[in-house]
Amino acid sequence: MTSPSPRARLRSDGRWGGAVTRRALPDGADEIGALGPATRARLARIWLSQAATELRVASSFAVIHRGLVALDADAGLVRLAARAVDDEHRHATLAEELAGRYAGRAVGPPPVLPDQRPGHPTASSPALRSALWVVGQCALNETFASAYLSAGYQGARHPLARAALRELLEDEIDHARIGWAYLGTTSPALRRELSDWLLPLTVCNLREWRRLELPEDDALAAHGVPPLAIAREALEETLREVLVPGFRRAGLDTRALERWIAAGAYDRS
Ligand SMILES: [Fe+2]
Ligand SMILES: [Fe+2]
Repeated sequence: MTSPSPRARLRSDGRWGGAVTRRALPDGADEIGALGPATRARLARIWLSQAATELRVASSFAVIHRGLVALDADAGLVRLAARAVDDEHRHATLAEELAGRYAGRAVGPPPVLPDQRPGHPTASSPALRSALWVVGQCALNETFASAYLSAGYQGARHPLARAALRELLEDEIDHARIGWAYLGTTSPALRRELSDWLLPLTVCNLREWRRLELPEDDALAAHGVPPLAIAREALEETLREVLVPGFRRAGLDTRALERWIAAGAYDRS
């Protein structure tokens, strides 16, 4: 468990500010100066898009936090979810900072993305709907995020990219733990209901990851942006080796999900 993050603050201009990272970022001037303008612009676009995504995840965590309160979840988990809102705002600030450094000028604010949180209108109760949001955002999405960031970190060679990815990764692992810890506290009846949703939740979440526009080659790998094939491999490995065993250990029925994977549906999705 990492130490609590410095809290981001709402600034007078309505945007979130405060500490960008826990540790000072390397300045990265040499590594950025060695890049051509097209590569710099591409990396700036990628980081600004990341900033937009982080802001959307911050909104999701506000809903998760309210959901955990409504579910009367463990107070430690409720606190972690509240902290996650701040973490995601800090991530957005960090990503915007990186975008600016690659661009060589201030960029932003990032575009406001439409909310993509599934409504789960057929959930049998508000409690199940809240539980689905916790499992979908934390256990699924943040675990996939950790896998994606790890893949980027492993290929990253430049100190600025490595420092930024490490900062994000440390928090995303904590955010995933909220989901796994919550699952450990659920009743057998709720676990039975959640089991029925496991496959559609996973398919829906993976669809979002598939929308990531990544390079086919390793042109940006040293700057922490993995090639598409590496990212897909990392997500698939995480699905098989972390998510399925994790859900099974939590007492969920993973057979439909395993059949879907065994039928090669992941590769066709
Ligand atoms: Fe994040
Ligand atoms: Fe996160």
